[in-house]
Amino acid sequence: AIERTLILVKPDGVRRGLTGEILRRVEAKGYTLAAVELQHATPDQLATHYAEHEGKPFYAPLVEFMLSGPTLAVIAEGQGVIAGFRSLAGATDPTAAAPGTIRGDMARDWGLKVQQNLVHGSDSPESAEREIAIWFPGR
Ligand code: CMP
Repeated sequence: AIERTLILVKPDGVRRGLTGEILRRVEAKGYTLAAVELQHATPDQLATHYAEHEGKPFYAPLVEFMLSGPTLAVIAEGQGVIAGFRSLAGATDPTAAAPGTIRGDMARDWGLKVQQNLVHGSDSPESAEREIAIWFPGR
């Protein structure tokens, strides 16, 4: 079935001028961009988006990082796009992420409390719908 996923180019990706390159890879793979919007996340939005990480040692630095500048929020569509984008993104830990992936090619460990790994992608159809409702209410 055609799926949708929520992609975020996090503040590190926007600051480093990598939004174009990241969207280029999503489009080159053959996925469709259904919505693209630069947003400055709010604390409420992040508390909902990252509810599963509350209480983890990186939670506060994660929220602070996500508030540090604008995020590019994207809805991408296509057969298998949820797993497909995660494969384009590479491993969460940028040091471990394989070359050829977004994180493997463009992210690294900066020695910070939170990993700055350029992108987020939903991990299941349920997460995708939940996260799209947070970033694109009504879509
Ligand atoms: P993401 O998967 O989008 O959502 C949670 C984020 O927390 C993750 O990206 C990383 O940016 C960060 N993160 C996850 N695990 C760790 C970790 N062990 N140490 C630091 N940051 C992490």
